[in-house]
Amino acid sequence: MEKSEKMISNASSECPLGLCDGSGVIFDSSGRNARPCDCIKILSKRNKLNFANVPEEFKELKVGEFETEIYAAEDNREAARSAKKWSIEYVKKFDIFSQDGKGLYFYSSEKGSGKTRLMISVGNALINMYGVSVRFITANDLLDNIRFSFNKSKEEGEKDTYEALMNDFKIIDVLMLDDVGAERPSDWVNEVFYSILNDRMTHKKVTLFTSNCDLESLPYNGRITDRIFKMALPVKMPEESVRRKIALTENEKYLKMIMEE
Ligand SMILES: Nc1ncnc2c1ncn2[C@@H]1O[C@H](COP(=O)(O)OP(=O)(O)OP(=O)(O)O)[C@@H](O)[C@H]1O
Ligand SMILES: [Mg+2]
Ligand SMILES: [Zn+2]
Repeated sequence: MEKSEKMISNASSECPLGLCDGSGVIFDSSGRNARPCDCIKILSKRNKLNFANVPEEFKELKVGEFETEIYAAEDNREAARSAKKWSIEYVKKFDIFSQDGKGLYFYSSEKGSGKTRLMISVGNALINMYGVSVRFITANDLLDNIRFSFNKSKEEGEKDTYEALMNDFKIIDVLMLDDVGAERPSDWVNEVFYSILNDRMTHKKVTLFTSNCDLESLPYNGRITDRIFKMALPVKMPEESVRRKIALTENEKYLKMIMEE
């Protein structure tokens, strides 16, 4: 939260409401009395959305835009409806879930079924409705970042030291951890995840996950999977690739275009 707040104060952009000079403060005609401009709320949300680090294609997505009838098989459509319903209820009752530090765990063994999309849509809604700070990262990138942080030392004035980075992942209100279980398992990987997740669990911080594995088959040690179990409600996703479907439609479009020339 601290980071996004800092970004507001030095925002040099124009006031989106056209009310202040972009500083977020409005002075009366005497120039002596100041009050906050309403744009602060908008800018705060915008900064939070930027800080969330969400991939471009998912930035503006809403849970309501998740299509449930796009899947070919009825049981997959049913799974999609149920996952969407869970996501909507979760956002609505976030106050209750977050008190217990409960997140969601979206999983399907099929790739491209909409896990990342639905998780990020939930994160977007949490920023917009509750103003929480959210951060998206794939499990692989998280580990890479931490690996690279080893040779950055505080003495050299580096910001992203190991301690600073670990702390960032521990304190963010909502962490969206994408594609867990895809990394090569090792003692070190277990250690990093244990440290972050245990801390988040203890402090009842919400974590959202996506994975190609159900909880039982995650390649982590039991101490970690037990914690994920405690921290998130499992949401079964359809076993069908929308990505492939979209690709096929695109390819057909190009094929048609070329054939017609
Ligand atoms: N239900 C849906 N409605 C509309 N678009 C969807 C839906 N599900 C997936 N898509 C689109 O399909 C593509 C793949 O979705 P996404 O990346 O969320 O899949 P995934 O399950 O996370 O895949 P992977 O297992 O490879 O990580 C994206 O472009 C996404 O926007
Ligand atoms: Mg994904
Ligand atoms: Zn303003």
